[in-house]
Amino acid sequence: MADLRPDNPYAPDRFPDRERRVEFPPDAKEKFEYILTRYPTKEAALLPTLHLAQEVFGWISPEVVHYVGSLLDLSPATVFGVVSFYNMYNQKPVGKYHLQVCTNLSCMVNRAYDIYEHLCEKLDVQPGQTTADGRYTVAEVECLGSCDTAPVVQINNDYHENMSVEKMDAWIRSRS
Ligand code: FES
Repeated sequence: MADLRPDNPYAPDRFPDRERRVEFPPDAKEKFEYILTRYPTKEAALLPTLHLAQEVFGWISPEVVHYVGSLLDLSPATVFGVVSFYNMYNQKPVGKYHLQVCTNLSCMVNRAYDIYEHLCEKLDVQPGQTTADGRYTVAEVECLGSCDTAPVVQINNDYHENMSVEKMDAWIRSRS
């Protein structure tokens, strides 16, 4: 069976490259200013600001963690604590299609691991990794809150419910 654990959070690539500056483009800055008006404190705006950052940069890199912290007067540790708590924030670059397989209880007993392992084999990737062509990232995630339609696979922002290996194969064929 493949190694199902994520990368070491203390690996060198988890630290920011001080030479690499990140900054919101003007339209994202406007959105950020609007977000601030919607929350009572800067800290309370952390989750939507991270969503905005992910939309702009594609993932939450260590540089983005520091940038968001500087915008909201929060320490990088506070920002990283939130980023690492939620599945919805990508801690590594992801492919065009982010295949997130829920393997919590309801999905697990409905054969989610068959789907997960099948995807890794079929696409020839390790868990959490992206195919060489940058099209697919396969990841294991915690409960997606749709246990009554298990097993569930989230593909980018969409839920695919009552999934099976066969349905997953059909979906991949439809993208070819
Ligand atoms: S256990 Fe998979 S959606 Fe809840």
